[in-house]
Amino acid sequence: MSLPQLKNDILLRSLLREPVPYTPVWLMRQAGRYLPEYRATRAEAGSFMGLAQNKEYACEVTLQPLRRFDLDAAILFSDILTVPHAMGLGLDFVHGEGPQFAHPIKDEDDVKRLAVPDMAKLQYVFDAVNLIRRELDGKVPLIGFAGSPWTIACYMVEGRGSADYRKIKGMMYGRPDLVHQILEINAQTTIQYLNEQIRAGAQAAMIFDSWGGVMADTLFQEFSLAYTKKVVDGLIRDNDGRRVPVIVFTKGGGQWLEDIVQCGADAVGVDWTVNLTRARQRLQDQVAFQGNMDPMVMFGGAEAVTKEVRRVIDDFGVVGKGGHVFNFGHGISQFTDPEMVKVLVDEVHSYSAKMHQA
Ligand code: CP3
Repeated sequence: MSLPQLKNDILLRSLLREPVPYTPVWLMRQAGRYLPEYRATRAEAGSFMGLAQNKEYACEVTLQPLRRFDLDAAILFSDILTVPHAMGLGLDFVHGEGPQFAHPIKDEDDVKRLAVPDMAKLQYVFDAVNLIRRELDGKVPLIGFAGSPWTIACYMVEGRGSADYRKIKGMMYGRPDLVHQILEINAQTTIQYLNEQIRAGAQAAMIFDSWGGVMADTLFQEFSLAYTKKVVDGLIRDNDGRRVPVIVFTKGGGQWLEDIVQCGADAVGVDWTVNLTRARQRLQDQVAFQGNMDPMVMFGGAEAVTKEVRRVIDDFGVVGKGGHVFNFGHGISQFTDPEMVKVLVDEVHSYSAKMHQA
């Protein structure tokens, strides 16, 4: 069955550095706990996985932020850790403690048992993508996503979030061959996983390399970026005759922009430590940028939000041959006042429209 045609394609055009009337905006974790309606749906679903594995719930929470705010994209409601869950690692979201795996990878035997999972185990994700596309009715594009092979490997070996990455880094320095095996399996899995999302209707794809920034120089390139590139190289870049732009976001990766651009992404996500004027100069407008306001600005009041929105847009400057997608430099905090999100989104649109006319 054919899917609804896109009405607002500003996001896709910005990601491909085509002319747009204003700067598009969406926010990492825009569907989430800062919204009371999300908390209500999550309570009804009983658990995070109960929410993510039910396509009606996943669709509902994906659409919630779009009912409140004039956002230019929807992002699939799911999690990067559904992939290792499908590999049999046993994901659980323990209340107040974040994600945890029952069977993390500890040794060579565990690595040997690891394999690319049957995509049927992730069918609930593809079903959600398809339902969201139909329910969106072409209002804005739908972004599909996955974690980078390295970021997923961190969770698989640490078993949970980590402050020092002792286990995965210990393995990387002591048995790099094992880490390379994990990364290869993750890359092959992620190619299939994202391609299935694109076939189900995702109109852009984002790769979250949330923990790439914890690496030493040269190790980032070898253990993170090389596998992200492998994923980008394997992706279908067409949906319904339109190019599917790819966004690669390495949190803390500002010092490696010249390397990251080589992976073939259309857009590079940057956090708030990066100066957008200089970043554009460094990459000579070869890619679009996504970012990069500090999500903590939202706790400084409406005036601070307005001021920082304008600063980020001014830092990017005249769009010209560049493309800019406004976002935070990391996910929105669960303690954010939704009213402030409205201030942000409306200011991005009204302030940037003047810049685009200029
Ligand atoms: O709105 C969206 O952005 C789409 C949904 C989305 C979620 N997770 C939902 C979620 C996306 C894109 C992610 C990606 C994700 N998940 C990343 C990469 C982005 C980043 O933040 O760096 C990472 C590292 C994860 C792993 C993960 N999932 C963690 C560390 C946590 C707990 C942290 C926290 O905020 O509590 C999750 C849980 C999670 N994933 C929540 C949401 C809305 C909160 C869980 C809840 O409802 O209890």
